[in-house]
Amino acid sequence: MKFPLVLLFTSSLFLHGCFGAIICEDLTKDNCSFAISSSGKRCVLEDFEDKKGKVEYQCRTSEVTVEIMADYIETDDCVRACGVNRYATGISSDVLLDKNSIVTLCSPPCYQKCRNIIDLHFNLAVGEGVSLPDLCEQQRSHPDCAMIELLSSSAAADGPAGSANHLRYRAAPAPSI
Ligand SMILES: *[C@@H]1O[C@H](CO)[C@@H](O)[C@H](O)[C@H]1NC(C)=O
Repeated sequence: MKFPLVLLFTSSLFLHGCFGAIICEDLTKDNCSFAISSSGKRCVLEDFEDKKGKVEYQCRTSEVTVEIMADYIETDDCVRACGVNRYATGISSDVLLDKNSIVTLCSPPCYQKCRNIIDLHFNLAVGEGVSLPDLCEQQRSHPDCAMIELLSSSAAADGPAGSANHLRYRAAPAPSI
């Protein structure tokens, strides 16, 4: 008779998030972006105007499944090291359009330590028909190479709004240098 009770108690603990179970809708604008829910979906920050025209933020569960981890809130260290913006809304590949942003993303403190942000941008790059590891490699060996510029113009023509829709997701390979 005792066992089912214990089971019930344990599962209700999980439901109430005592073990850190992350539900995107519970997050604030300070920890929503780059978070991954317990079910392995990316959280996405959305903004909207309330009735008085004031901008409000809401964290929502996206359709994007993450394979490498779940139940995760991105650290401030990684947000800083990777040069990404926690308060950006939507899932955007904008970082891939700017050369300085790519340099920061490819830098060892980000590329080697921040798997979540790298996995996201790896997949965003795939959506643009680009390989992030190749892009980083190229940026390292030819810092002035014009191909990054080329990527910027072709991706910009595509429009960042559409890019989130045709993302293909697969796990990023382990970073290597
Ligand atoms: C998210 O941030 C809020 C404060 O902005 C905090 O109260 C909450 O505990 C945080 N959630 C998690 C899961 O870290």
